[in-house]
Amino acid sequence: MCGIVGYIGDNSALDVVVSGLEKLEYRGYDSAGVAIYEDGGIHVYRALGKLAELKKQLKGESKGKSGGIGIGHTRWATHGKPSENNAHPHTAGRVSLIHNGIVENYIELRDELKAEGCQFSSETDTEIAAHLLNKYLEEGNEPFEAIRMTCDRLRGSYAFLAIDSQHPDRILVAKNATPIVVGISDTEVFVASDIPAVLGHTRDFLILEDGDFAEVKIGSVRIENNGEPVERPVEHITWDPVTAQKGGYKHYMLKEIHEQPMVIGETFRGRLNIEEARIHLGDVSLTQDDIQRIDRIVLAACGTAWHSCLVAKFYIEMLTGIPCEVDYASEFRYRTPVITENSLMAVVSQSGETADTLAALEVASGKCHTLAICNVLGSSIARKVDHCIFTQAGPEISVASTKAFTTQLVGSLLLALHIGEQRGEVPLEKRSKIISDLVHLPSAIEAALESEEQIKQIAKKFHSAQDFLYLGRGTCYPIALEGALKLKEISYIHAEGYPAGEMKHGPIALIDEKMPVVVVLQKSDLLFEKSLSNLREVHSREGRIIAITDIQGHQELHDLCDDVVELPYLSEELSPLVLTVPLQLLAYYVAVLNGTDVDLPRNLAKSVTVE
Ligand code: M6R
Repeated sequence: MCGIVGYIGDNSALDVVVSGLEKLEYRGYDSAGVAIYEDGGIHVYRALGKLAELKKQLKGESKGKSGGIGIGHTRWATHGKPSENNAHPHTAGRVSLIHNGIVENYIELRDELKAEGCQFSSETDTEIAAHLLNKYLEEGNEPFEAIRMTCDRLRGSYAFLAIDSQHPDRILVAKNATPIVVGISDTEVFVASDIPAVLGHTRDFLILEDGDFAEVKIGSVRIENNGEPVERPVEHITWDPVTAQKGGYKHYMLKEIHEQPMVIGETFRGRLNIEEARIHLGDVSLTQDDIQRIDRIVLAACGTAWHSCLVAKFYIEMLTGIPCEVDYASEFRYRTPVITENSLMAVVSQSGETADTLAALEVASGKCHTLAICNVLGSSIARKVDHCIFTQAGPEISVASTKAFTTQLVGSLLLALHIGEQRGEVPLEKRSKIISDLVHLPSAIEAALESEEQIKQIAKKFHSAQDFLYLGRGTCYPIALEGALKLKEISYIHAEGYPAGEMKHGPIALIDEKMPVVVVLQKSDLLFEKSLSNLREVHSREGRIIAITDIQGHQELHDLCDDVVELPYLSEELSPLVLTVPLQLLAYYVAVLNGTDVDLPRNLAKSVTVE
């Protein structure tokens, strides 16, 4: 989720690139850098921290400079901690290169390049691409050919921009699974990860597609895909700058909801060994012996991350046979929890900075193995734990967490599957099935996003209700809790999540014709019938029922409910992720109709770094 910008033209390349990075900082902000070709050579400037740090370093650098070619990057660390050395651009010989994405086979390529005498100065996966490109150029290949040869060696997702000091009239571009646009005008050309970066300079864009290689010069953009020359149509963009920053969406929250198919894919990418049905978790170094000895897993987190722990408990107990308990971090830190050396303490946090979660982690630190499922490399929690599974959600700007939640579920499923496999608890066939379902998850989430129009209509019907009840059983119970939290946070409507089976022990008293009841129903032979009886109870008290389900065409369900949102069914493990999406959309559209500040709801902060 890094931001990237490139420029060739008559204006100061440094100024254009830095101003582009300012508009992309939301994509990453742990370090930034630029490479500018000038006076016969490439000059690279990099700084740890926000773009402001780079700008301090560059103070005065743009003076007297006009025209030229440059590339710039704002980083969201995936491989290698945030540091100046790991900041992009990476340089090898005559090449400077920036990258957004993940190179999965970088370790084997780095070993190969090291054996050939290449010196590495960072811990990143990106630097190998700079070395490969430099090598192929030095072997006498044309730049376009050299970038293609480089990408032929890589597995993973990438958008690369590179400049070559011996061909300072062009930017070399490669795109696979992460976005790249080329902005054009008569005298200038721009390349960026996002349109807003350069929208102030041009409104005409070529949107590159996966597999495209491009050589971008003023007045010409050569593109090939699969060895064939291709042309991409010019799109004229009319967005205003604020809408553009949000990728054309009205709010970051909606943008982030729509990013889920992509970031879920990024979270499992490179971690699945499909042939052997195993999970590879690079930053988890628990040995088989360590795993055999674990006799209890303790999960702690706050808010949405705590809901993800409730689903994780199901995964862990189902796939590993190890007892698992879940605590609010704010409670755990002040109890006297029993932690033994055979416990595994795992915390979940998007930001990696939540004070209570950090404190809960500290209670266990030094007593047992500690692990985090975390979205921010270099964060306090990520640095403190013994093992970390990084989710690849990219920066989450909206206070209401969406893509962080679903990627946390993917992270916890990977963990459970890994531990279960190492302990011999999950037969090969079951592992293969879960892994193959996981590969299909991004498209099931895409399909769930298609419920958006129906959800808008449901929001119109119910947005003025004063209270909502959310019900679910099994893994759908935490999903109901998460749906209720989303609604509360951004629409300020009172909403309660409850296990459907508990309803008759109290909450049923609340039900009348004014109370919308959102029920999350998973296709499960065991629980479906039970949930249906709960719905009959709500129906007979005139409650208004909205069912979110992956059961198709169930007549009685349709008869009982005001609305039924039908989604594709993938599997018992992955169903909770698919069912989450309409609940996020429902909260979003109710809030929009009620006119609240969706991305910055009152009284809330994105990162709660105080108690
Ligand atoms: O950064 P964390 O995941 O540790 O944050 C935990 C909670 O503060 C967070 O999930 C909060 O509940 C969100 N606003 C939910 O949308």
